[in-house]
Amino acid sequence: WPVYAQEIDAIMTLKERRNAVVLAHNYQTPDIYHCVSDLVGDSLALAREAMNVEADVIVLAGVHFMAETAKLLNPEKTVLIPDLGAGCSLAESITPEDVRALRRRYPGVPIVTYVNTSAAVKAESDICCTSGNAKAVVESLGVPRVIMIPDEYLAQNIAAETGVEIITWKGHCEVHERFEPEDIRQLREDYPGVTVLAHPECPPEVVKEADFSGSTAMMSAYVAREKPQRVVLLTECSMSDNVAVHHPDLEFIRPCNLCPHMKKITLGNIRHALETMTHEVTIDPEVAGRARLAVERMLAVK
Ligand code: 13P
Ligand code: SF4
Repeated sequence: WPVYAQEIDAIMTLKERRNAVVLAHNYQTPDIYHCVSDLVGDSLALAREAMNVEADVIVLAGVHFMAETAKLLNPEKTVLIPDLGAGCSLAESITPEDVRALRRRYPGVPIVTYVNTSAAVKAESDICCTSGNAKAVVESLGVPRVIMIPDEYLAQNIAAETGVEIITWKGHCEVHERFEPEDIRQLREDYPGVTVLAHPECPPEVVKEADFSGSTAMMSAYVAREKPQRVVLLTECSMSDNVAVHHPDLEFIRPCNLCPHMKKITLGNIRHALETMTHEVTIDPEVAGRARLAVERMLAVK
């Protein structure tokens, strides 16, 4: 505990000295999430918050695509990611050339790109989405058919919700693809009355068996609103830890999967990032211009 306290003190002092804020995703460990961050949330909330940051420096406690999105939306700021290896299996699954090939193959079909992608992939897209607004983004286009990349399961889940035909890509989240419908059946048997919440990156068979599916922020809001006595969040492990802090009266059942990328961020490397002002996120200006358009179109969807 004294080591934690020292790290936290050091980060607080450095934040003041650098005029910096820490934005943390809901999958960050509770020490980061509750002790050193200024703003927390899902990908959508972090994008919106990043746009309004007035401090000089943003430390993104999350994965690389989140830091890139912050830089796209607030390019004057210095954006730091504490570990450059904090990637994402979805972002890795598709290249800009793959997107250009899809456009050639399906001329005129709009390309909706999940924010879990590189800025270079966003730059080839018409509009972005997050798990929190994917349905609204797809419906806002008013067309019978869209391409949604790269998360195959998110695309299938949104197709089921909207009735829009969706051309998919074979990307998967390495954390959520591991949940199975059988896990839910077993949970219901072992914990009678349990309410099951699943992230929409889970396979459609899992989402179908769950009581509710939504982004990480939507899961938190569901728990706060419905106060299920027994609940399981089928998502990354830190999510339950962070939400449970606010609901000591509820029982959180915890089968979960760790995201090795999110877990690369630690108090130690946040402190190091602020001490050394590394690793700074930069984006080629021409790519950034096109990627920003796709993200801004997403943010304009109500
Ligand atoms: P959210 O936008 O729901 O926070 O999800 C981000 C993510 O990486 C989920 O795996
Ligand atoms: Fe990517 Fe999945 Fe990790 Fe989210 S949980 S950052 S989608 S690998």
